Amino acid sequence: MKPGKTGLLACLLLTSSLHAETGAAAWLRYAPLNEAASRPYRDSLPPVVTSLGGSLAASAQQELIRGIRGMLGRTERIGQVSALLTERAIVLGTLGSLPPQLSLTANLPPDAYWLKTLNGYTIVTAQNDRGVLYGVFALLRKIALGEPVQNLDDRQSPRAPIRWVNQWDNLDGSIERGYGGRSIFWENRQARPDLTRVGDYGRLLASLGINGCSITNVNADPRVLASDFIAQVVRVAAAFRPWGVRVSLAVDFGSPQTIGGLDTFDPLDPRVAAWWKAKADELYQAIPDFAGFLLKADSEGRVGPSAYGRTHADAANVVARALKPHGGMLFYRGFVYDHHMDWQNPRNDRARAAYENFQPLDRQFDDNAFVQIKNGPIDFQVREPASPLFGALPKTRQAVELQITQEYLGQARHQVFLVPMWKQTLDFEIGAPVKTLVSAFAGVANVGLDDNWFSNHLSQANLYGFGRLAWNPDLSARRIAEEFVGQAFSLPARDSETLTGMLLSSWRTYENYTGPLGLQTLTDITGNHYGVNVEASERNGWGQWHFADAHGVGMDRTVATGTGYIGQYPPAVARIYESLETCPDDLLLFLHHVPYTYKLHSGKTVIQSIYDSHYEGAAAVESYVREWKSLEGHIDERRYHDVLAQLEYQAGQAELWRDAVDNWFLRASGIADAQRRVGHYPGRFEAESLSLEGYTVTPVTPWEAASGGQAVACAAAQCAASLRYQGPSGWYTLRVRYFDQDNGISRFQVRVANQLVDEWAAADRLPTSKIDASSSARHIIAGIALRPGDVIRIEGVPDGGEAAALDYIEVVPNGN
Ligand code: GCU
Repeated sequence: MKPGKTGLLACLLLTSSLHAETGAAAWLRYAPLNEAASRPYRDSLPPVVTSLGGSLAASAQQELIRGIRGMLGRTERIGQVSALLTERAIVLGTLGSLPPQLSLTANLPPDAYWLKTLNGYTIVTAQNDRGVLYGVFALLRKIALGEPVQNLDDRQSPRAPIRWVNQWDNLDGSIERGYGGRSIFWENRQARPDLTRVGDYGRLLASLGINGCSITNVNADPRVLASDFIAQVVRVAAAFRPWGVRVSLAVDFGSPQTIGGLDTFDPLDPRVAAWWKAKADELYQAIPDFAGFLLKADSEGRVGPSAYGRTHADAANVVARALKPHGGMLFYRGFVYDHHMDWQNPRNDRARAAYENFQPLDRQFDDNAFVQIKNGPIDFQVREPASPLFGALPKTRQAVELQITQEYLGQARHQVFLVPMWKQTLDFEIGAPVKTLVSAFAGVANVGLDDNWFSNHLSQANLYGFGRLAWNPDLSARRIAEEFVGQAFSLPARDSETLTGMLLSSWRTYENYTGPLGLQTLTDITGNHYGVNVEASERNGWGQWHFADAHGVGMDRTVATGTGYIGQYPPAVARIYESLETCPDDLLLFLHHVPYTYKLHSGKTVIQSIYDSHYEGAAAVESYVREWKSLEGHIDERRYHDVLAQLEYQAGQAELWRDAVDNWFLRASGIADAQRRVGHYPGRFEAESLSLEGYTVTPVTPWEAASGGQAVACAAAQCAASLRYQGPSGWYTLRVRYFDQDNGISRFQVRVANQLVDEWAAADRLPTSKIDASSSARHIIAGIALRPGDVIRIEGVPDGGEAAALDYIEVVPNGN
């Protein structure tokens, strides 16, 4: 349920929305503090809030009242400016608007805020209206985190002036790489009739100091610039405006031709320049605070300046110059590479592309044109080195692009907290730390209409973390995780630490089971980027190769014998990466090709490390399930059960990744696991070896996606697979691995000795209609008493295109 807009009704609805804990409130829950915790705030905060006006005053004042009412259980009175002399108040206003008796002077940059206690007044001030709003959120955050507010003197300035999210929303309402439901902006190629969620999103963004949002897909639809579409953008901009979030559009470089009616989009043609200028004028006429454009050109099939032999700087500048008179900005994506590269040429290397395309153009970009650079040189993989381009554009304004939506990182079905990964890039020394070289932050967020925005409550931590880092990249990952947990959940200290620990270790965990040692995410890179598919990146033009064969693995990017990529870094970095002696294990296979028997700094061989890390990763997710269960009773039921289901599913997927990758490398290398786990699964019975009624054996592609490379699928109305149990009597757990395709809802029943012991529907929202790694799922039935001779029978009823397919069943003693 959504809070209404004004009045008493709004308060009532608001209250019920907070209690419902759908996750919509994210970290702005303003959960009640207990008596002891709230007392210091009740004592020190004045009972009146007085706003000195400004364009965002209503939002700031209402937010303060809302937050204090939620946390402290009291409603601030709205005070008049004229009464300020007679009663203490929380005063909200820019420095220029403060009355003489409360006057403060400071040289604050735009959006910075100052929280100051003066003569019993609590002053939230700033240079601009946005800063005041951010100050209110900061004050509320302090209360939520139990920090003192009585003698405030806290000035905070954002590190970068531009802090934007990018949404890859299509006008039909789908979202490219969006995992949280349909677009909050668009449906049927129009703005949604009800844009309430856009306002709610604006509020979340403002709470982090995010001041812009690009609202259309980078793979741009030319229609976004059509004159008769502007009214739609106007509506979205209006919904964001109360929160100081300005909108921008991702545009198609061919627009002068496709919608402008010109016979060219050559950036050096004066008619093209005039078209961009007229278009910008038209947009600013309708949306005076319009933020600018985002442009993906000459990349993955998008048109660009190469069509006319022009440079990226020519392309960027023609658009930037149109925006310049209005104060608008152009973000030109550095994500430019050839996706039809010859994989047989060992000198070819996609990782070199961004640097090669942009470094020679340094100095040539106008000052309102930014080059927007992804954190790594490939594409949001589980681990990449920092892009060398950050160190190569000293005369160009740079934006760092981080991906909040977890495209290659489990897609909201896996819990992966990305802040530690982003910190590595931001802190990376490339002449200077990356965070000091960029003046803009762009986060690809892709929130959707799902109640909790991402379809995974814990994925919210990534949007939170992005916003906090964009404001202050010096914050530690731990601090950010603690802040998120402290606000999004109301847990006793020990439980907070449990959840914080889960977040902080989750990236390493995910890396351990999906792509350790710099292998990159070993997923289906030409498909949904989700399930395991070790060879999908090989032998094609996309350039995400890891060159694993019978002898070794990794891509040689050295200057001495490889693609020369390492030479794009400053000498101090290149020296470390070039030498096997100093190259960090985590990036080894990204930068070098080595035999499987190569010894890492850790002392393990590469192959044993691959085996081990997958077992560690899968075990870590099992431990997250246990840790989460220990929080039961301290988390509202809905979120507790949602996250539990997500983690249990993730544990099943991690096990699948473990077996798939390890078996793939066992087959490739021929080297056994020293611990004899890989290829040995006690208690596992392949479905294809069971006694089958109606089920037929089907090969699975890629083979590693199913145990034994095969599954059984049902083409009849109902099928069954049975196993006669021959082991000792006792208590057992049954683990059934089945396939949950997205084109039907099959039903399963399990009977033991003719007794129905469990049933379920394969109704999860997984991204494939195939029987493969993305649809592989696990159902656990604990506490089953087995006797020798019992028949364990799994019955499957297919539905639609879904085949009630089975991979295997495991029978393991309880507790294992
Ligand atoms: C990735 C992603 C695409 C996206 C592209 C981009 O390759 O899979 O969907 O368009 O990045 O950043 O432009």
